Amino acid sequence: MIDGLAIDSARADEQPVIENLVQLYIHDFSELFAGTPRGDVAADGRYVVDIPLANWWREADHVPLLFRLHGTLAGFALLNAHTHSGAPADHNIAEFFVLRKYRRLGVGRAAAQALFSRYPGRWEAAVMRANTGARAFWHQAIGSHPALRHMEAAERGHFTWDGTIFRFVIGPA
Ligand SMILES: CC(C)(COP(=O)(O)OP(=O)(O)OC[C@H]1O[C@@H](n2cnc3c(N)ncnc32)[C@H](O)[C@@H]1OP(=O)(O)O)[C@@H](O)C(=O)NCCC(=O)NCCS
Repeated sequence: MIDGLAIDSARADEQPVIENLVQLYIHDFSELFAGTPRGDVAADGRYVVDIPLANWWREADHVPLLFRLHGTLAGFALLNAHTHSGAPADHNIAEFFVLRKYRRLGVGRAAAQALFSRYPGRWEAAVMRANTGARAFWHQAIGSHPALRHMEAAERGHFTWDGTIFRFVIGPA
């Protein structure tokens, strides 16, 4: 774990914080949508968000999390149990984001591994084909977890998902 890194469940009154960070998250992804109709801001200069954020404070299997480094926001994660593979999982990485200032410092890996340890079981993480950096990240973060029991990375080219789907099992500590 990185010194000063805290990974806390986001309270309902912190939904606007995640809404703000989601704008930055989508902006990052918009780079991958060049030449397509996706990834534009609306007339008000904001991205239209198709993530049903309110569900993260309504559904029992949805977990919203904020990452802070020495008290300053460094990223967020949204977990649920809805997989892209269609196979069952206890936990799915729905969204995961580290603010640019804090990248390549090990924050993402430390946060991801802390979550795997906090919620052992069957996990899934899906990565878009164009998101090559995130693919390398998940391969590294999952593959180096000390309680990893099993990992597979399936390449999908289906209309429902174009990219890599990591499925893995984390044992209890
Ligand atoms: C992907 C992301 C979460 C990585 O966070 P991070 O804090 O920078 O990652 P870490 O510093 O913990 O990286 C751990 C290792 O993963 C790999 N890695 C991370 N980012 C990488 C990149 N852009 N390219 C290649 N490898 C990368 C490296 O092996 C790295 O170790 P190293 O820095 O010692 O080489 C961050 O870049 C991000 O938020 N991207 C935009 C949103 C996104 O794509 N989310 C994932 C959706 S599936």
